[in-house]
Amino acid sequence: MRLSKRCEHFNALHAEIASQGINPYFRPTAKTWGSEVEVAGKRLVMIGSNDYLGLSHDPRVMDASAKAVYAWGTGPGGSRFLSGNMVLHQLLEERLAAFVGKKGAVVHVTGFSTNLGALGCLITPADTVLCDREGHASIFEGIKSTRARISTFAHNDVQNAAKKIAEAKRARPDGDVFLITEGVFSMSGDVAAFGELAALKDEFPDIIIYLDDAHGLGVLGPGGRGTALHFDAAARTDFIMGTFSKAMASIGGFIAADDEGVLRYLRYQSRTQIFSAALPAANTTAVLTCLDILEKEPERVTRLHQVTNRMREGYKAIGLRIGQSASPIIPIIIGSDEKAFQFSQALFENGVFALPAIYPAVPRGQALIRTAYMSTHEDRQMDFVLEVLDRLARQFRIRAQDVEEDEIRAAQPNMTPDATADGAGRAKLSYL
Ligand SMILES: Cc1ncc(COP(=O)(O)O)c(C=O)c1O
Repeated sequence: MRLSKRCEHFNALHAEIASQGINPYFRPTAKTWGSEVEVAGKRLVMIGSNDYLGLSHDPRVMDASAKAVYAWGTGPGGSRFLSGNMVLHQLLEERLAAFVGKKGAVVHVTGFSTNLGALGCLITPADTVLCDREGHASIFEGIKSTRARISTFAHNDVQNAAKKIAEAKRARPDGDVFLITEGVFSMSGDVAAFGELAALKDEFPDIIIYLDDAHGLGVLGPGGRGTALHFDAAARTDFIMGTFSKAMASIGGFIAADDEGVLRYLRYQSRTQIFSAALPAANTTAVLTCLDILEKEPERVTRLHQVTNRMREGYKAIGLRIGQSASPIIPIIIGSDEKAFQFSQALFENGVFALPAIYPAVPRGQALIRTAYMSTHEDRQMDFVLEVLDRLARQFRIRAQDVEEDEIRAAQPNMTPDATADGAGRAKLSYL
């Protein structure tokens, strides 16, 4: 389809949705206090942020970043390969490597570009890449750029992964086999069965394990040191990738490994490292300060899990369907895209910020409201959110018992179904 046609099609769908007032994306935040925000003149409790430790509003992180601007300026002036490399980057690489249990690291300008650049230069077309089906877009984009054979394994299914590794080794004995998973899955909040995945090295010692720990860093493991150390599996993990855009209160990303030679190769060969500007000093310093804080105050991570457990128990008491999450990301499963959009809008009108995730970000028909918690959430904010959720869940009939009753009614066509919030204003939302 020509570009003009594609745009026309997209814009028609966009206008249809906008006319119903239910497009929740790209809403500009006017003010933020971290766990609360102001949007369109409304003050909302934020349960949609990845700032898990609330450090983006910690005065120590803000002060250090502001001072870094005065010391280093606002922009790096070039790629790290050329003029943009700072001692701050090198210091951060040493600190990060030690933090996650690896010998060295390479810092990038975003998490996305870390996956894109690292996977793009580690993998060749002769290799086979096995990736959890629910992997992040940046992982798939990185792999696609290599033209290697991609095969997915069923979500968090170690046996399925093992079967596929064996098949790949039989079919392509000369290539490497990469096994890629997230530590904490960004939409479902599931924690990877990473101990068992890493143990596949007993059977297949030469597989290369690549862990995207965007949502595990600062969240899992001793003092927030991530998923690999949480499972005591850092030594078996060849590559640990992380981002600074979540618990590390900044932007940027890194890839850590033990092999100096491979790290040098990544540093010099990754296209997103060489042909993209360096991470600015303010962002680099923010991460260094977060690491200082985390090393001194591991109780922040404990508090994060207390907040999350309280919300998880509250949601279970309401009867919400929340999947298997064991992390600060708790999905509220809705089902249809339409209902998820309407529910998110109702949350907004009732003072809660949380956004829907629909296909392709989640499997078809499993649209959800992605909620995520911060160690800085206060009891009063949690009480408020639970009260709103309890009320709206009944109204929208999204509790497990409502869904079950509605399914029974649907199976008996002579009974009149309840009017549900799904009934009005159906829109074709599949453009996203
Ligand atoms: C699992 C995962 N990997 C990578 C990224 C990309 O990170 P960044 O936003 O720092 O570019 C994200 C961001 O959402 C993510 O969730």
